[in-house]
Amino acid sequence: MPVVQVPNLWRAPEPKAFLAEWSPPLVTRVDEFLNSRFDGAWPSSFVGACRYPLQTGGKRFRPLLSLASAYAFGAELDDTLIATAASVELIHTYSLVHDDLPCMDDDDERRGNPTVHRVYDEATALLVGDSLLTEAFSVLAGLDLEPEIVVSMVAELARAAGPHGMVGGQAGDIGLAGEVRDLDTLLRVHQGKTGALIQASVRLGALAAGANEEGLGAISVFGRDIGLAFQMADDLLDAEEDAGSDGPPSYVKLLGDRKTLDRAQSLLSNAIKAVSVLPRPQALSALARFAIERSH
Ligand code: IPE
Ligand code: IPE
Ligand code: MG
Repeated sequence: MPVVQVPNLWRAPEPKAFLAEWSPPLVTRVDEFLNSRFDGAWPSSFVGACRYPLQTGGKRFRPLLSLASAYAFGAELDDTLIATAASVELIHTYSLVHDDLPCMDDDDERRGNPTVHRVYDEATALLVGDSLLTEAFSVLAGLDLEPEIVVSMVAELARAAGPHGMVGGQAGDIGLAGEVRDLDTLLRVHQGKTGALIQASVRLGALAAGANEEGLGAISVFGRDIGLAFQMADDLLDAEEDAGSDGPPSYVKLLGDRKTLDRAQSLLSNAIKAVSVLPRPQALSALARFAIERSH
């Protein structure tokens, strides 16, 4: 299998400098892989619709987390790690396509581009989401790893994406648990809608890299804390836009700016500490810092 050289920037102190070198070749490979998964699908006009939300930007935070996790365990980059990383982005992208639909958040734009249902139509956007979701599991099922590991990875992604994870969080977010007035309920919504997939991203990278129980424990703490910190950073970024009683519930509304930032920073420190025991944690640390210091 081809092995891509990843620059060894072990001592790079700045996440931006580190990620600027470390990420692009990985993102290129993940994107090529994602594109290739729709070769030969039918009807051909629909193939373009499936590729559209995968080709219109995105930070690729979750696949990079998955690769950073495998890297932390000392794994060499190969097609299996790329496919694992891509499976998480397929779930993430499907969730955004459905989240933007008129019956959900009714958004016309995503990442500065028209949403799938605006370029095509609602029914097509629904089917695009269905395709990406299904394809994610097809990708994992086809991994060239021990069958028990593949099964554990499929189960991991299913749990994170379904009612115990992301979809459950989305259900809470649309009000199916009633109005979100307290921090515990807000944490539960976010652990589902954002946290579960972020945690699964690093756990899947670790499983693909052959991590043991102790390593999985460390990476799970990292994933949980970064998932929450990521959402807090998102709320801080969206604070102005979401202000007022009509906007969605958020950490900023319940805690205020200062306390939200303090919490995000303490989660970040805890996450970085948890993975400091792993052989090569620097990509994870850089991504973790990026998650809360980002400006978009
Ligand atoms: C946005 O996620 C939606 C949430 C789950 C908060 P990202 O901020 O990772 O979105 P992209 O993929 O970079 O656009
Ligand atoms: C999207 O959450 C989360 C998922 C799709 C799982 P939001 O609705 O809060 O995020 P944006 O604002 O659409 O990116
Ligand atoms: Mg939305």
